[in-house]
Amino acid sequence: MQNPLWWQRGIIYQVYPRSFQDTNGDGVGDLLGIAERLDYLVTLGVDALWLSPIQPSPMADFGYDISDYCNVDPLFGTLADFDRLLADAHARGLKLILDFVPNHTSERHPWFIESRGCRDSPKRDWYIWRPPGPAGGPPNNWLSRFGGSAWERDETTGEYYLHSFLKQQPDLNWRNPAVRAAMMDALGFWLDRGVDGFRMDVLWVLVKDDLFRDNPVNPAWKPGGPLHDQFIDLYTADRLEVQDIVAEMRSVIDGYPGDRVMIGEIYLPVDRLVAYYGKSLHGAQLPFNFQLINTKWNAATIADIVRKYEAALPPGAWPNWVLGNHDQPRIATRVGAAQARLAAMLLLTLRGTPTLYYGDEIGMSNGKIPPELVQDPAEKIQPGIGLGRDPQRTPMQWDASREAGFTTGHPWLPIDPVAELDNVARVSKDPDSIWTLYHALIALRRDRTALSVGSLHEIGADGDILRFSRGEGAESVLVLLNMGEVPKEVAIGPATILLSTHLDRPNELVSTVAMRPGEGLVLEIE
Ligand code: NOJ
Repeated sequence: MQNPLWWQRGIIYQVYPRSFQDTNGDGVGDLLGIAERLDYLVTLGVDALWLSPIQPSPMADFGYDISDYCNVDPLFGTLADFDRLLADAHARGLKLILDFVPNHTSERHPWFIESRGCRDSPKRDWYIWRPPGPAGGPPNNWLSRFGGSAWERDETTGEYYLHSFLKQQPDLNWRNPAVRAAMMDALGFWLDRGVDGFRMDVLWVLVKDDLFRDNPVNPAWKPGGPLHDQFIDLYTADRLEVQDIVAEMRSVIDGYPGDRVMIGEIYLPVDRLVAYYGKSLHGAQLPFNFQLINTKWNAATIADIVRKYEAALPPGAWPNWVLGNHDQPRIATRVGAAQARLAAMLLLTLRGTPTLYYGDEIGMSNGKIPPELVQDPAEKIQPGIGLGRDPQRTPMQWDASREAGFTTGHPWLPIDPVAELDNVARVSKDPDSIWTLYHALIALRRDRTALSVGSLHEIGADGDILRFSRGEGAESVLVLLNMGEVPKEVAIGPATILLSTHLDRPNELVSTVAMRPGEGLVLEIE
């Protein structure tokens, strides 16, 4: 591959700012804390950090409800702190990607306050207002993704406004050119400051049906399941008109010097996901590929996913892979500690930009949150059915000191007691730890062009063994992952082991390789 760009070659690391490092003792992480930990990210070897939202917010959805697109919430610091963080990151060769939340604002955003003021407010049409439905209730059957109607009646005017998420998160009307212009300006605000890109929140839901048709019933929904899934998102997501907006965002970003990147949060089947690369690839450079999050964890299924994804990519589109994020149960909880090592090897050897979720590199699993400490509205609205996201948002575990070195105060979510052992200070010195594996995998990926940007061949599953190879020029690397619970011998011809998930057989020459349960190998074919 000729001249790969940083976001193709590089590795992205997601920081959830509330939970990374607190410096002022209020129990919530902040920008100065992230700045303090940049050297850690350099040591780990990643190339870019993506911050979940840092803009002013009443925090009804922990920052995904923004009340000012062009500032920093005092909880996280100031714009000056942000500028310093960005300069410090750049000084270390790290790129910085911000979250951008285009679908909705906070109900406390001045635009919405003005919009709800009266029916003929100049900002009325900035949001989606409808009269009551024929029976006097909500205008149609659209549901909030957190459960309940997506419509909230507003006393002042007797009309309903749309909120695809919480009622504190009114949806913007992207059909209104003034909204589009204002949001493009907000992108410009951060691009002018020098950010290297954006992760666009819920990119596939920005536009809704202009006829406000009811969504069809989902026959697969069962009582007790997520309330939102009662209907299929036919009229409330992935509408064709969204592609224009994606292209416009891309044009704004491309208007700035440097190679800035647009990542899209998109939960759609692959055939629809790839549409977000845009016409002539003038869309998101990285429409997030979440397939490793939802997959059954076995070799045949994963081989199939990789094969179909590669086949679906438009010519020239660059792939990407994700194991977890702040909305999903952690990988170590989903597949267990042993398989989490295999997952790390998979993520860092597949073709495409990997995104790591903070703490996965030290093997963090979901924290246990007692009911009285629950923070996440998703859990409060539908308790006990596994929708809560607090468990994957517990503070980063830096050391074995009080509150794991995260805060000198009282952390906003409880520190997992395993922090006494699973913490950066300890595992980064342990030659056998998952941290050491991540570190070695990242170094190997950097060192081998075949792994960072090479092509992918011969993906397949033989029983529990997932195998594929990566190549670039004369370099060729074979990856074997034993996803099963029994040892297995695999005949491969003469090869040298570059790395095992078990970190104990470097440079071993093999021809038929004995693989332990849960062992993954990266090999160089002789
Ligand atoms: C997706 C974000 O990742 C999630 O945390 C948030 O609740 C919703 N979008 C709404 O903004």
